[in-house]
Order: sequence, then structure tokens, then C-alpha cells
Amino acid sequence: MNRKPPHPATLAAQALGWTEGSTGAVIMPVHTATTFLRDPDNQYRRGRSYGRADNPTYDQPQALLTALEGGAASLLFSSGMAAAAAIFQSLPRDAHIVAPRVMYWGLRSWLRNFAAEWGVAVEFVDATSLDALRRAVIPGRTRLLWIETPANPLWSITDIAGAAEIAHATGAMLAVDSTVATPVLTRPLALGADLVMHSATKYLNGHSDVIAGTLTAAREDAFWARLCAMRSSGGAILGSFEAYLLLRGMRTLFPRVERACRSAQLIAEALSGHPEVLEVLYPGLPEHQGHTIAARQMTGGFGGMLSVRMRGGDKAAITAASRVEIWKRATSLGGVESLVEHRASVEGANSPTPPDLLRLSVGIEDPEDLIGDLEAAFSG
Ligand SMILES: Cc1ncc(COP(=O)(O)O)c(C=O)c1O
Repeated sequence: MNRKPPHPATLAAQALGWTEGSTGAVIMPVHTATTFLRDPDNQYRRGRSYGRADNPTYDQPQALLTALEGGAASLLFSSGMAAAAAIFQSLPRDAHIVAPRVMYWGLRSWLRNFAAEWGVAVEFVDATSLDALRRAVIPGRTRLLWIETPANPLWSITDIAGAAEIAHATGAMLAVDSTVATPVLTRPLALGADLVMHSATKYLNGHSDVIAGTLTAAREDAFWARLCAMRSSGGAILGSFEAYLLLRGMRTLFPRVERACRSAQLIAEALSGHPEVLEVLYPGLPEHQGHTIAARQMTGGFGGMLSVRMRGGDKAAITAASRVEIWKRATSLGGVESLVEHRASVEGANSPTPPDLLRLSVGIEDPEDLIGDLEAAFSG
């Protein structure tokens, strides 16, 4: 009887089912070697020479991520920023890039502070509008359309298939920061994207104890070869132990993300009616700007991230954050513990984030505990 291919949740739980041949161990070893034997005839037939170029501990997490994203190949990096930067640094010097106005602020400020000086022109547009993306691309000059969906911190949604069509019509690539969606909820390559990036620090690892980044490509083309060379020669590599921890985290990706989504939906609905709350921003709410597109391109939930705008402005937001007992006041997202953050305080001057906004990263605790803690903190 022909068996059907395993569900991605099965692939993740078993990390593709790899076992170690010589011992039968069901967990693959951590390789710490920085260098590998050369053959007596001066060749490297086993394929590896030096740890900056290649690390056997990467093989399994990269293969698992490639399977989950439905891609051709993946690379681990030392951080999400390093993964994203590798793409921008691999473009030609005079490249024109289109990026969203609403996006992870750290990458936006990196693009502002460094890309322009290197000759890369970045245009920031409203990426929730395909018309705005269409107007921004310059045929023959735009090399890359960068999108993030759902995007920090308003959880704005971009139509990935529509953006891919616009990018390809002008000869550009589409790269998607899919950190918040995760491969559980969205597979950007199947919707036409060329590259997917993750801050693996977030959901892929899921335990707030590893900084890592990833890229996955739709094809192993010339640009992918350049990205591989950029990592090995630029040196933004992940440590072996971090790669092992990341894989361990990825094995529980599905149950963590599924639970976070369910709880985020309940929290969004519960807080929508709270008298101190001006607005809840969550793609799972029908009134959210991107709900219809999100319902089409996300499967199984709308993510574990939401934001709340407080009626009492920035003071009310900061006061509410000071009163939580279960939620942790901290930056970052995608861990098993729930985090709350006054986002404008982190982003500083020139932040487009409303000052009354609290960003919530929903973990895997009991959802009633999480709702009760927020309601108590908001009411004082
Ligand atoms: C959506 C998104 N992209 C990229 C990054 C950068 O990743 P890292 O902190 O792993 O460098 C972050 C980090 O907060 C993020 O939230």
C-alpha cells in the first residue's frame, strides 16, 4: 500500500526521523570540530574542510526547515539580522529595493543607516497595498521586494502572491520575513516568493535561549550560491550547540504555534471589549486591515502576536505593563513565555509605532491566566 507523505507536524516532531547509523541513537550528535581531514591525495572527498564554510550539526535543522518551507535549500545564520543582511549585502551596489514602512524596526534602521551608504537605494512603502508596491518598483533596477507578514508591530498583512507577481514582472526577487507566521501558518515559497527569512530566535527555537537566523530558497540558483558564499566568507555562522538547541526547539514548533494562535485569538476577542482598550490589532479579528488576505494565505491560525492600543495613551500603556504579574515585560517574541512590551519605548525617536501601543507575544501558558492578568493590569 502506498503511504501518503507525512504531515509537516510529523516531520518536525521527528526532525525528519534521522537516526545515527553507527550507534542507533535517535538524536544526532553535536559536531564541534572546526576542521576536517584532508585525504592523502590532497582531496576533500567527504565534502567538508573548515567549520566556517560548513558544519555537520547544521545538516538536520537546515534539511528540516527546507522540508517545512517546501524549498530547495536553507542556511542557518548567527542571527535573524545576519540572515537578512546577507541578502542585502549580496545585491549589486546600485540595486533599488522596496521595503515596507511597517516592519521590524531593527531591520528598518539597519537599511536606513547602512544600505544607502553602500549605494543600495531603499524605498519604504505601504506594503499592505499592492498598488503602492506596483508604483514603487522600477523595471530593470529594482532587484528586491522585501516584505514582512504579519508585520511588526501592527501585524499588517501583505498579499504574498500579489507581491510575487509584481516583483517578478519587473525582474526582481521577493523575499519574505516570515518570522511571525512560521512555516506552520504560511509557506511563502508556495505563494511565489523566492526567499524566506526567519529570525529563528523567535518561534523556530521558541524558548528564548538562542539567537539565530535562517534563509530558505525556492531554487538553488546563482543568487543562492552567492548567499552561501556570503555566509562562509562573511562568517555570520551559528555555533554548533545553538544549532542543536534550535533543532530541539523546532521539534515542538507545531504544538507551540498552534496553542499560541488559539490563545492569541481568545485574548484578542476578550480585550476587544475592554473599556480601557482603544483598539486590538490582530489579523484574526474580522475588523483587522488584513483579515481577508490573512484568512486566505495563513492556514490554521493568525499567529501568536497581537497589539493593544490603550485609551489613556502612552502613560496608560506603560502603567498597564508595569502591573502585569504573569506576562513578562521584555522585548522579543515567539517564546513559550508570554511577553508584553511598550513598543515605542524600544523603537525610540522616529518610530512610526503609536505611543499608546503594547505589543503582546502570546506563549503557551493557560489562556485564562493570561487574559485575567491583562484585565487586572488594564483596570488598575
Ligand atoms: C520580524 C523580525 N525579523 C527579524 C528580527 C531580527 O532577528 P534577530 O534578533 O534574531 O537578529 C526580529 C527580531 O526581533 C524580528 O522580530
